[in-house]
Amino acid sequence: MLHIILLDCAIELIPREITSLKQIQKYSARRGKKPSEIILDQTHHGQSMTKLSLSERRGRPDITYLSLLSILETPLCKEGLLSVHLHLQDGSIVEVHPDVRLPRNYDRFVGLIEQLLLEGRVPPQGDPLLRFVDITLGNLISELKDGSPSSMTLLASESGKKTSVENLQNLLPQDSSIPVIVGVGAFPHGPQPEEITSYFDTHLELDKEMMMTWHICAEFLWLYSLRIDVVKNRYSVI
Ligand SMILES: C[S@@+](CC[C@H](N)C(=O)[O-])C[C@H]1O[C@@H](n2cnc3c(N)ncnc32)[C@H](O)[C@@H]1O
Repeated sequence: MLHIILLDCAIELIPREITSLKQIQKYSARRGKKPSEIILDQTHHGQSMTKLSLSERRGRPDITYLSLLSILETPLCKEGLLSVHLHLQDGSIVEVHPDVRLPRNYDRFVGLIEQLLLEGRVPPQGDPLLRFVDITLGNLISELKDGSPSSMTLLASESGKKTSVENLQNLLPQDSSIPVIVGVGAFPHGPQPEEITSYFDTHLELDKEMMMTWHICAEFLWLYSLRIDVVKNRYSVI
């Protein structure tokens, strides 16, 4: 089973310290919502965000959106062999139901995430498609390992060990019952903090260039799917 954790997702509501700024007030009037009910987004709030600490890492919900679109509804996901969690910058964890069909429209995704951040789950009633779970990143990783001595924790990192695509594929277990936990940063700029990277045993550089989060997620997902024969088994002719 492949467990993808999107690390340090740049998702949060507009923080109190900038709610009174003109740009934010104008934007919230346009949306007909209070600033505290609106997701922080570099595209709309870039100028105001310069007042925030670590602003270059924040306000990019599109990174999480595009990453989820690239890994959900894939053959691996349909076979029940993928789990996805979001780790937000305040340390909280969101569980993504593998059956979730995300809106194809970004503005509708933003609406869902605002509901998630305000109510703790989406939808508010019934089976949750996205929900906060009360667990730390460290405990989540231990739980996903499921007591398997062969489980592995891999971190995608531009400063990780260089590998070839063959080595990476051979590193992955062919037995799909062995948990493989992969962490990929879902923030726009900067290094991954030590307190997060230390949870992962193996740090790997994939491409020789810095790639977008959703490409790195897709590379892991498809290499793993090939490794455990999911792709082969789902073609009509084997
Ligand atoms: C856009 S990058 C993060 C920001 C980047 N560190 C910077 O300084 O601009 C998003 C994430 O994708 C992964 N990533 C990007 N390029 C990679 C590569 N060549 N090899 C492995 N992981 C990579 C890492 O997990 C990284 O945290």
